[in-house]
Amino acid sequence: MSLPPDDIAPFAARRQRLMERMRADGGGIAILATAQEAIRNRDAEYPYRHDSDFFYLTGFTEPDAWLVLVAGATDRAVLFCRPRHVEHELWEGKRFGPEAAAAYFGFDDAHPIDALDELVPALMLDHPTLYAPLAGDKRTDGRLRRWLAAAQEKSRGGHTPPTRQQDVRPLLAGMRLIKDASEIATMRRAAKISAGAHARAMRVVRPGMREYEIEAELLYEFRRHGAQSVAYNTIVAAGANACVLHYPAGEAVLRDGDLVLVDAGCEIDSYASDITRTFPANGRYSGPQRALYDLTVAAQDAAAQATAPGRGFNDAHEAALRVLAQGMLDLKLLKGSLDGVLESGDYSRFYMHRTGHWLGLDVHDVGDYREPGTAAGAERPWRKLETGMMLTIEPGIYVRPADDVPEAYWNIGIRTEDDALVTDVGCELITRGVPVQATEIEALMRE
Ligand code: GLY
Ligand code: MN
Ligand code: MN
Repeated sequence: MSLPPDDIAPFAARRQRLMERMRADGGGIAILATAQEAIRNRDAEYPYRHDSDFFYLTGFTEPDAWLVLVAGATDRAVLFCRPRHVEHELWEGKRFGPEAAAAYFGFDDAHPIDALDELVPALMLDHPTLYAPLAGDKRTDGRLRRWLAAAQEKSRGGHTPPTRQQDVRPLLAGMRLIKDASEIATMRRAAKISAGAHARAMRVVRPGMREYEIEAELLYEFRRHGAQSVAYNTIVAAGANACVLHYPAGEAVLRDGDLVLVDAGCEIDSYASDITRTFPANGRYSGPQRALYDLTVAAQDAAAQATAPGRGFNDAHEAALRVLAQGMLDLKLLKGSLDGVLESGDYSRFYMHRTGHWLGLDVHDVGDYREPGTAAGAERPWRKLETGMMLTIEPGIYVRPADDVPEAYWNIGIRTEDDALVTDVGCELITRGVPVQATEIEALMRE
């Protein structure tokens, strides 16, 4: 579990913004729960990770917590959390408890979690709209239904329960798309640690090592710099394993002449990073490896050029695709014309994923990839990029053996991935603490 944030101001500001939105829409009450703890086996638990939306509005990282926001004549932010408990705290560590949580995080009120059923129905009265994650998990759905029914019971004497329900997640997703200064600062830290870990992997790799040994080097570097977790399961794929897109680090030996694809990013203070580099186990790219590698770098350059405020989300993908498809033609992986293979989608045999995704509290972060609010039925235009958005740029090429494919390229899988912050004029790749050019990687590996 991560430490409470030093600065709670950004969290309070986000609650304020959400409540302003709710008030502008006639007022309402928002109710969100954090994530539950999960059993791994018998009484051993998975490492706990709070819910990202809940964290975004609170900064609070303990399990068993709910947030209630009331936007009416006056605003109120109310936390429900685990009460202090001497014995539990002896085993599991310190809890804030409602009183200290309210004081530290700046809630108007806080109560023990057991008081939810008693207090929430009354809080619901006289607010026209209930904002919650609708049709989310069964537990939350069930409790919301019961609280609404209880509020209905209480509604004598001229008080009315909410008559409308609105999913709060799209509102939060819209907010989370644009990172504030504190988020950008945290993501730069995550990016720097992850870049350092990739550089370490490049320095230590030798033919004969196993994938899990490289994974261990990455995890060591993440953790020793304070990262609380990986942002997603680490991929270390030797040779042909790299053609499996989400291959988990396994036991395969890195052979002399193999490439190794490493897709790894840490999470620090709840924010993700996501980097992929593909480098030769023996420190030198072969000719065919280098040809494909340089192609992914050129595609990434083209995509980065197309990542700027006002550009559509898909522009980067289209730019990368043109470069990759032309390269596939030049290297005789494909036959035909550029327009022809782009039109037919033949390139998807070797490049079958998209070029990027939003990045933030979640590695595949929330946020619509299309412009919101366009009439139903019509295909909505791609979202326009704005300053402060964070996304990955990750073109790749994956060549499986086939009779019609030059044998020199068989079983090569390469992805080149960096994290891009949209700036006022273009984008900044915040993960370039690890080199990307083949010559620079080879130089680093010689150190
Ligand atoms: N590491 C998962 C991804 O690149 O999307
Ligand atoms: Mn990614
Ligand atoms: Mn990745």
